[in-house]
Amino acid sequence: NNGHREQWASRIGFILAAAGSAVGLGNIWRFSYVAGEQGGAAFVFIYLIAILLIGYPLMVTEIAIGRKTQKNPIGAFKSLAPDTPWWIVGALGVLTAFVILSFYSVVAGWSLAYTFKAFGGFVPGLDYEGIFISHITDVYMPIFWHAAFMILTLVIIASGVVKGIQRWSKVLMPLLFAILLALVVRGLTLEGAGAGVAFYLTPDFTEISGETFLTALGQAFFTLSLGMGALITYGSYLSQKENVSDSAGWVVGMDTLVALLAGFAIFPAVFAIGFDPAGGVGLAFITLPAVFAEMPLGGLFGFLFFLLLTIAALTSAISLLEVVVAWLIDEKGWDRLKASMLMGLIIFVVGLPPTLGYSVLSGVTIFGMDILDTYDFLSGNILLPLGGLLTSIFAGYIWRAKSVIDEANNPKGKIVFGQWYGYVIQYLLPLAIGAVLIWGIISTFIE
Ligand code: PHE
Ligand code: NA
Repeated sequence: NNGHREQWASRIGFILAAAGSAVGLGNIWRFSYVAGEQGGAAFVFIYLIAILLIGYPLMVTEIAIGRKTQKNPIGAFKSLAPDTPWWIVGALGVLTAFVILSFYSVVAGWSLAYTFKAFGGFVPGLDYEGIFISHITDVYMPIFWHAAFMILTLVIIASGVVKGIQRWSKVLMPLLFAILLALVVRGLTLEGAGAGVAFYLTPDFTEISGETFLTALGQAFFTLSLGMGALITYGSYLSQKENVSDSAGWVVGMDTLVALLAGFAIFPAVFAIGFDPAGGVGLAFITLPAVFAEMPLGGLFGFLFFLLLTIAALTSAISLLEVVVAWLIDEKGWDRLKASMLMGLIIFVVGLPPTLGYSVLSGVTIFGMDILDTYDFLSGNILLPLGGLLTSIFAGYIWRAKSVIDEANNPKGKIVFGQWYGYVIQYLLPLAIGAVLIWGIISTFIE
């Protein structure tokens, strides 16, 4: 029944789509706000280790599972381990896609709104914290932009594969990159930027706790789109002629570069404008407009930047929705249009509580976090690492590490795994993820 399953046109097509999934709000909005809350440089250091030791091997594993089975996450686990409960790991991924996309769309909605606010809005001396707060405490505007973003996402998914977006990404991602570089230069040359550079680059390991490790690991999963089947799904459209290990290397490299640059654009400015680096979800939305205000043609740059950030978010959001839609198409025989529309609507509704979390539902907290933080924490720090843990156990012991290595090496690329790589999959991944998950949960909830 895979006769009509679509495939990426080329290896570059796959790399762009997977990088489109990876590069998103996670690199700019989420990376800066969690790094700010977790003390800066020491967090970034642990995050980079997590990317290298856990993120990359797990990405290879997920793509290999998808490419081997040519199935959505639930179907993939079913076909590699028929008549076992392992399909539940795929189901957990589908559930996670709902949770992530529902709040992701809210923040992407802020970005979309800021695209329009940029016109004439970013001038020196404004109270950017006040502007952000008044945006999110409004009842209707966040709902409107959340809905607008969900509609964009479902229209793209409904219309089939990513051709349009893929073609755009080729032009637009380098442009995002260029604007980010300009922001880095402007940010670094602001008066008082030095303290931010120090915060970003000088690690203070005395503040490190299990929560820091868990947040760094969670950020690595979130930013690389791991632990919930997005890359199993994208890998399922990858042709047998293309190599897995090199493609994954490109995706990890691009994603990490964008995140590191975003830190250089944001932290110097945070200190230059005297804002609190632990300021939470508003960090990027408060500091970046302040930097634009200090640039010639700041309104234009601000407009372009938020437009590109929204597009980056869109290429990530479609990968989240595609997980759910691919499952309904493959396993339940739904048609693409019906699946996209209905799931888009449900995700919009699930996203209403975080949308209203700063207005109608302000003051509502779960585990001491506001609603959007709770969705974010639950998905990034619990669901994704849990999905990654189970996927690595499955790959190491049920499908077998050797199968991952064979799939990743076939056809041979520049990065070739020896059989030793089996130890990485069987021991390093499950032990490291498991330990950080348990230790992190304990130190987050039991002080
Ligand atoms: N990787 C995306 C980002 O950094 C978010 C994402 C997570 C997308 C999980 C798909 C799956 O913004
Ligand atoms: Na990312």
